[in-house]
Amino acid sequence: MKPLSIIFFTLTFAVTIPFAHSKGLVIDTYLFSDVDDAGALLLAATSPDMDLLAVNGRSNLPIGIPRPLTNATFFDSWFYELGEYASKVAFHFSGGTLPWGRAEDAWDPVALYRKSLAEAEDGSVTIVSIGFLDNLSALLNSTANIYSNFTGLVVMGGGYPSGRSWNFWGSNASPTAHAINSWEGRVVFLGDDVGKDVLCGAPLMSQGPEDDPVRMAYIYYSYYNPRPSWDPLTVLYAIYGLGGLFEFGSEYGCNHVERDGTNRWVWDEEVRNPTFPEAQGG
Ligand SMILES: *[C@@H]1O[C@H](CO)[C@@H](O)[C@H](O)[C@H]1NC(C)=O
Ligand SMILES: *[C@@H]1O[C@H](CO)[C@@H](O)[C@H](O)[C@H]1NC(C)=O
Ligand SMILES: *[C@@H]1O[C@H](CO)[C@@H](O)[C@H](O)[C@H]1NC(C)=O
Ligand SMILES: *[C@@H]1O[C@H](CO)[C@@H](O)[C@H](O)[C@H]1NC(C)=O
Repeated sequence: MKPLSIIFFTLTFAVTIPFAHSKGLVIDTYLFSDVDDAGALLLAATSPDMDLLAVNGRSNLPIGIPRPLTNATFFDSWFYELGEYASKVAFHFSGGTLPWGRAEDAWDPVALYRKSLAEAEDGSVTIVSIGFLDNLSALLNSTANIYSNFTGLVVMGGGYPSGRSWNFWGSNASPTAHAINSWEGRVVFLGDDVGKDVLCGAPLMSQGPEDDPVRMAYIYYSYYNPRPSWDPLTVLYAIYGLGGLFEFGSEYGCNHVERDGTNRWVWDEEVRNPTFPEAQGG
């Protein structure tokens, strides 16, 4: 059979499994350029608090991909040193919910969001946004009152107190501004600075199981060099909360995103919910 070269550009994973702080995660991610998204999914899938996933088997995990499907492949035109991993992992580790060549079977991301919403017990699911925010914005435009079923939103992106972050402008800054500025529930932001200097992947690449797709993703992408942990730390926070690892950079205020994707923290004492954590220590 001639393999289809369909590359997973943006995947929305719905992981409905219990853990300490809420009953499930919806992870909105892109498996395209940086490999830390794959690291974040590995963390979510192997966390000891996520037993049910192992019981059910990973094949139950619903996956969404935006349409139209494309064959776009990552090319590192910033540093000319990183490799493309998404197509290689999809081909060599075919199987699970979405075998190679069957990308058209994936959910539409907004439909998958709505399915997760409808199936969530009230207030039981946390959304973890570690990619672009287009689909979250589309969800908000497609339905009112999502807030009773989703406990909260954890977003990787932004600079604090201000900055310009790839996750906010890399796709389309206007839906990002819409999703973040109009979100009415609790949001926790992990800024670009949090994961930048926390390097991971070296033990996984040198000692991890040879049949581990995430280990191979790191090798294809970074050629054995450890990588920053923007997304894995965001998932870690979403699962375990502050723990001993993080502290909030602000107990009040909200994030404001401009139409060019720049953001700034607004120190508004009236807004007590949204916060951004900072990594503690070095
Ligand atoms: C991607 O490339 C494969 C192989 O050439 C082709 O069969 C498939 O239709 C292409 N998909 C898209 C979405 O262009
Ligand atoms: C929220 O969850 C409840 C219980 O599962 C469901 O009946 C309701 O339709 C959901 N709300 C939305 C907006 O999907
Ligand atoms: C979902 O997000 C992707 C980019 O991440 C975008 O290309 C696509 O248009 C979005 N879909 C909707 C319905 O907004
Ligand atoms: C949703 O609507 C707002 C305007 O109300 C718009 O700025 C945003 O781009 C829309 N999102 C999508 C994904 O089309």
